[in-house]
Amino acid sequence: MNTNKVRLLVLYGGASEEHGVSVKSAREFSRRLNPTRYDTIYVYVGRDGIWRPTESPDSEPAQGTFAALSTDRSNKGLIVLKGGSYQVMPVDAAFPMLHGKYGEDGVIQGVLEASGIPYVGCGIAASALCMDKVLTYMVVSESGVRVPRHRTISANAVTTGGLKYPLFVKPARSGSSFGVSKVSEAASLEASVRAALEYDDKVLLEEAVEGLEIGCAVMGNGSNLITGELDQIGLSGGFFRIHQESKPEQGSENATITVPAPIPEVARTLAVETAKTVFRALGCRGLARVDMFLTPDGRIVLNEVNTMPGFTSYSRYPRMMACAGLSLDDVIDRLIALALEKEGCAL
Ligand SMILES: Nc1ncnc2c1ncn2[C@@H]1O[C@H](COP(=O)(O)OP(=O)(O)O)[C@@H](O)[C@H]1O
Ligand SMILES: [Mg+2]
Repeated sequence: MNTNKVRLLVLYGGASEEHGVSVKSAREFSRRLNPTRYDTIYVYVGRDGIWRPTESPDSEPAQGTFAALSTDRSNKGLIVLKGGSYQVMPVDAAFPMLHGKYGEDGVIQGVLEASGIPYVGCGIAASALCMDKVLTYMVVSESGVRVPRHRTISANAVTTGGLKYPLFVKPARSGSSFGVSKVSEAASLEASVRAALEYDDKVLLEEAVEGLEIGCAVMGNGSNLITGELDQIGLSGGFFRIHQESKPEQGSENATITVPAPIPEVARTLAVETAKTVFRALGCRGLARVDMFLTPDGRIVLNEVNTMPGFTSYSRYPRMMACAGLSLDDVIDRLIALALEKEGCAL
C-alpha cells in the first residue's frame, strides 16, 4: 500500500436543482483522478439530502448503507453505517463537488469545517456571498468593480424602480440559469418574477448589459493566484442556459464557447485583473469562475461568481485551464494540494 496516498472524500449529487450537473461533473472527475495518488471514497448525496457511499459516480449506491461526517476533529473521517453497525473511514481531504443550494452556499462548507477535514474551494463566508447575486454585487462594488444596475424585489411589490428594459429576472440564489428570464416589456414581468420565485424567495431585477460575455477561471489562495485563458460565450439569441438543454455534450442550441476569447490584449489584461480583484474581495479560496461582460467601450462589468464551477466534459472552467496548459488531472491535483495548504485557515 502506498502510505502517501491522499484519502479523498468526493461528495456529489446534492439536494439542489443542479443535482444532475454535479453527477456529470463527478463522472468526468472520477475518470481523471490519478489512482496512484488518491484513495477515493465517493458519497452520493441524494436529492433527499441522504448520503450514500458508492463505488464510483457511475454506480448505484449500496442498499442499506449510509454515511455522515464525524464532528470529532481528533478522528477526522466519514462514518459509514451498515446493518446496525458503523465504521469510521479516515479522510485527509474532501472535494465537495456540489453545485447550488446546500453545496455551493456555505452549508456543506460549514459541515466540513465542523468535521475538521480540509476541503477544496471557498469557505463558508465566501461561498454564501457568491451564492447570493445581490450580496456579491454589494461586496465587489466596494472594491470599485462595476456591476449591473439592479434591485431586489419582493413578491407583493413587483416594480422596476426606474430600471430600463430589457431586464433580467433572476432568483438571487440559484445557478445554471434555473428561473432566469429576459424580459423586454412590463407585460411579461409578473410571470417572470413568478418563475424566479419557484427557486428562491429573493428575486432580483437587473438591466441587461450590452457587451460580450466572458469568463475567467481563477485558482489559488491569497495573493498567489493563477488564471486560465479567458473564454467568450457567443449567443445566436436568448441567453446562456446550456444546463437547461437536453444534449449539452453535443454543443449548445444557442451558444458557442470560444477559448481563448478573441478580444484585444488590453481587454484581456483588464478582465484578468478584475477577476482576481473580485476573487480577493469576496474572500475566495481554491477556485472560482468569475463571469463578466466586456462592454463595447472596453469596460468590465461583473456577472456572477461560481465557487464550484462544473467539471463536466463541456464545462468552462476545465477548458479555460486546459487552454492555459493545465490538464484536468493537474487542476485536480493542484486543487487538492491547495485544500491541504489551507488547513487551519478560518475563512
Ligand atoms: N445583466 C445581464 N445582461 C446580459 N445578459 C445577462 C445578464 N444577466 C444574465 N444574463 C444572461 O443570462 C445568463 C444566466 O444568468 P446568470 O446571472 O449567469 O445566472 P446563473 O447563476 O443561473 O448562471 C448569463 O450567462 C447571460 O447570458
Ligand atoms: Mg451564470
